[in-house]
Amino acid sequence: MDNFEKLVKKSIDKFKMLNKDEKILVSVSGGKDSHAAAYVLNKLGYNIELFHINLGIKNFSDISLEKVKELSNILEVPLHIVNLKDITGKTIEDLKRKHCSICGITKRYLMNKFGYENNFDVIVTGHNLDDEVSFLLNNLLNWSVRYLAKHFPVLPAHDKFLKKVKIFYEIEEDLILKYAVKNNIPFTTAKCKFAKDAITLKHRAYLNELEKERKNIKKQFLYGYLKYRHLFDIEEDFQFRECEICGMTSAGKICSFCRVWKLYKKSKYKN
Ligand code: AMP
Ligand code: FES
Ligand code: ZN
Repeated sequence: MDNFEKLVKKSIDKFKMLNKDEKILVSVSGGKDSHAAAYVLNKLGYNIELFHINLGIKNFSDISLEKVKELSNILEVPLHIVNLKDITGKTIEDLKRKHCSICGITKRYLMNKFGYENNFDVIVTGHNLDDEVSFLLNNLLNWSVRYLAKHFPVLPAHDKFLKKVKIFYEIEEDLILKYAVKNNIPFTTAKCKFAKDAITLKHRAYLNELEKERKNIKKQFLYGYLKYRHLFDIEEDFQFRECEICGMTSAGKICSFCRVWKLYKKSKYKN
């Protein structure tokens, strides 16, 4: 086991993220983080399968799909692919605005739905320390208190929501990149054209600038959050229920996925 693998194992154990008897769905994007997550979990002997959403973004989705298939071949683990267009009749490319926020809702929903319907115990994503600190800063700047309690590496299952785990929660992006390169893990560096204006990318850039002057400031921010997270843990004042269109767990009558894709107009998407 190399140092990176030891580091990841230690983090998995520390936060009690995963068990060897769980059926794990790793949601893979084509990029280095989720591919390294699948690779390292496979190497550590966890029971994984891969899940990928073809978002229909020209060039970016094509190259991503190619890399995901390569990864599945190398690891010899099953790969499940869903096409957004088959489900909603549209792609991310077809949207007029809010590409990233609708895409985020879509990814979270589809990975959960697939995992839930196919009896997986847990979903693993490739979010890393750099992602976490930039989300955290963004939610602080907006005082999104509801989300501030949720930046934890393990979110437990409830209703039809599966357990979600971020195995790289406390692992820096550059270590993941080095590991991916060292092990010849297939991945693409292509970036989605809609993400370039995302505010969290700006947060990332100046947090990295700050890190050059104040070493470990990102970790200090993250571990400080973990210490004080309970302060944001407020009681939700609503009851979850089943979406009237798709039947998945929702905060309102219609879940955000069915709402943003206007699926209430197409009852064919009923289960
Ligand atoms: P992103 O939202 O692009 O920052 O990606 C965050 C995580 O979501 C990645 O590390 C993957 O685990 C997962 N993910 C992103 N895009 C896809 C996709 N097209 N299909 C499946 N999982 C994805
Ligand atoms: Fe979803 Fe870019 S990957 S909008
Ligand atoms: Zn729904």
